[in-house]
Amino acid sequence: MTLDLEAKKLLLRKIPHGLFICGVSENGEVNGFTASWVTQGSFDPPLVVMAVRAEGSSHGIIERTLKFSLNILRADQKELAAVFFKPQKALGGRFEAAPFKLGELGMPLLEDAIGGVECAVLGQVSKGDHTVFVAEVMSAHLNKDGESLNLSSTGWSYGG
Ligand SMILES: Cc1cc2nc3c(=O)[nH]c(=O)nc-3n(C[C@H](O)[C@H](O)[C@H](O)COP(=O)(O)O)c2cc1C
Repeated sequence: MTLDLEAKKLLLRKIPHGLFICGVSENGEVNGFTASWVTQGSFDPPLVVMAVRAEGSSHGIIERTLKFSLNILRADQKELAAVFFKPQKALGGRFEAAPFKLGELGMPLLEDAIGGVECAVLGQVSKGDHTVFVAEVMSAHLNKDGESLNLSSTGWSYGG
């Protein structure tokens, strides 16, 4: 079977995505990155599914600590999303751009965003260049409701 790469790219890019800041923490140090490959996975228990680039620095932290946060950005926070995917001088440096507090699981929660959830990893599938983590939502923190940022509004793409 031959895969039509152009058709594959065009069709997969039709899958709608939000844009989130995934926060991690290990040994008192925080880190965060922009994530779009995120969806829900179960009502009860409430599960989320996120694909994380195997070569990223947050990947190993999630594997070791089995925890992460997902921060839901407002529609006007595209610039902040850009901070969290660009290279940084040192691990955690991106959070200089964004005030945060630590939640009950010790994960970074942005203070200026719609809100965030803390998640505990239940399982992972490591195939290809991303690992798919399945995690239970353990805490939810709403700052202020509003319209959320989505990938299509930014003109950026990831994957396809
Ligand atoms: C629009 C966009 C969406 C992204 N979505 C994801 C994603 O879902 N998962 C992922 O692992 N990386 C994603 N990235 C890439 C990470 O944000 C980027 O590799 C980051 O530098 C990783 O940081 P870290 O190495 O500190 O963990 C995305 C990048 C962009 C520009």
